[in-house]
Amino acid sequence: MSHYNSVGKNVKKVTTHVLQEMKTSGEKISMLTAYDYSMGMLIDQAGVDVILVGDSASNVMAGHETTLPITLDNMIYHASSVIRGVKRSLVVVDLPFGSYQGNSKEALMSSIRIMKEAGAHAVKMEGGVEIIESVNRIVSSGIPVMGHLGLMPQSIYKYGTYVVRAKEDEEASKLLSDAKALEDSGCFAIVLEKIPAELASKVAQLVSIPVIGIGAGGGVDGQVLVSHDMLGITQEFSPRFLRRYHNLGEEILGAVSAYVNDVKTNDFPNDKEQY
Ligand code: KIV
Repeated sequence: MSHYNSVGKNVKKVTTHVLQEMKTSGEKISMLTAYDYSMGMLIDQAGVDVILVGDSASNVMAGHETTLPITLDNMIYHASSVIRGVKRSLVVVDLPFGSYQGNSKEALMSSIRIMKEAGAHAVKMEGGVEIIESVNRIVSSGIPVMGHLGLMPQSIYKYGTYVVRAKEDEEASKLLSDAKALEDSGCFAIVLEKIPAELASKVAQLVSIPVIGIGAGGGVDGQVLVSHDMLGITQEFSPRFLRRYHNLGEEILGAVSAYVNDVKTNDFPNDKEQY
């Protein structure tokens, strides 16, 4: 069991204000993805502060190569399932590609659908100064927004690869000004994906809102991973930043093979497993 000073342990519900207190007190924020009721419930019970219903559902749940195909309706379905299992965590839902890039009204209407139809607590969107008008409009309507900078998978066809972002000065300085712009427009937190640790740590010092990293080193205010990756359900994906806490993929294969064998050999069901 680890020991840490805890703002979070004493709260019944994690809110954006609790996350802000965590940053102020130096308590790191834990965040993981979930896409369904059962996993949402387990992840919540384990004490994760923020559950992200990520558009990575497009990859790990639907088997698409990118996050682009997932729809707003799909995201609402996943988010409403997660919400039904969650008591304590703050549930943030990704605005999927194509649901907010058109204009700020479209961004607001998509966010309202996520809040109303899924019962989400906040939305997340990718981008910097390009999306500020939308962030302003969504925040003004009372919906908390989490930003997302660095590697932005919804723009994969613009960048062409999933390599580390912002290694060059020009991109690094744009990222710093984007982070400041997101803070100024009212974002309650920012995710930084796959950027140099030193730059991520600079961002966390520059802004007063929580900065949560994935592949962004330990100098930020919290960490996020895709649950399927850290549990070892996805086996082919192993970037340097990923720590695997389990090899669930192998365990599932073993259990399912044993079941197949038991059925084929007439071992299952036995006398006690029938009426
Ligand atoms: O969709 C997702 O899972 C994400 C995380 C990688 C931060 O955006």
